[in-house]
Amino acid sequence: MRVAALAALLLLAAAAARAQSPSGLEIFTSPAKGYCIACHQVPEGAGPATRSDLGPRLEGKRMRELGKARLRALLADPMAANPDTVMPPFGRHRILSPAEIDRVVDYLDALP
Ligand code: HEC
Repeated sequence: MRVAALAALLLLAAAAARAQSPSGLEIFTSPAKGYCIACHQVPEGAGPATRSDLGPRLEGKRMRELGKARLRALLADPMAANPDTVMPPFGRHRILSPAEIDRVVDYLDALP
């Protein structure tokens, strides 16, 4: 009985931890987080298929050419490179935490 209660608690704690730290893909697709999918397409299988074309299609080769440091800077504040961009400044406006930005960068870096 006690063991079952403990197991249930652990499961709840694990679920809560997951809810607090969404994966890169979750951040990429969630309207409450990055919602990157609203503007960008990703290669088949890497995320939901959309027709979004406000931003460029994101491909792994190009992401790895840009490199993680530039991707991090771009997500923190895309207006630094292009003041007229419609891409939100996820870091500067604290839409995403630095840890969340890192997870999205890892997701981008691993795109096919
Ligand atoms: C409102 C639309 C919009 C949203 C939301 C958006 N972006 Fe963008 N993104 C753009 C546009 C437009 C560009 C083109 C560059 C520019 O405008 O300066 C861009 C450029 C980029 C680039 C550079 C692509 C390249 O090939 O140089 C990356 C990487 C990127 N976005 C990732 C993301 C990620 C990750 C998110 C979510 C955390 C996101 N974007 C959310 C519109 C958006």
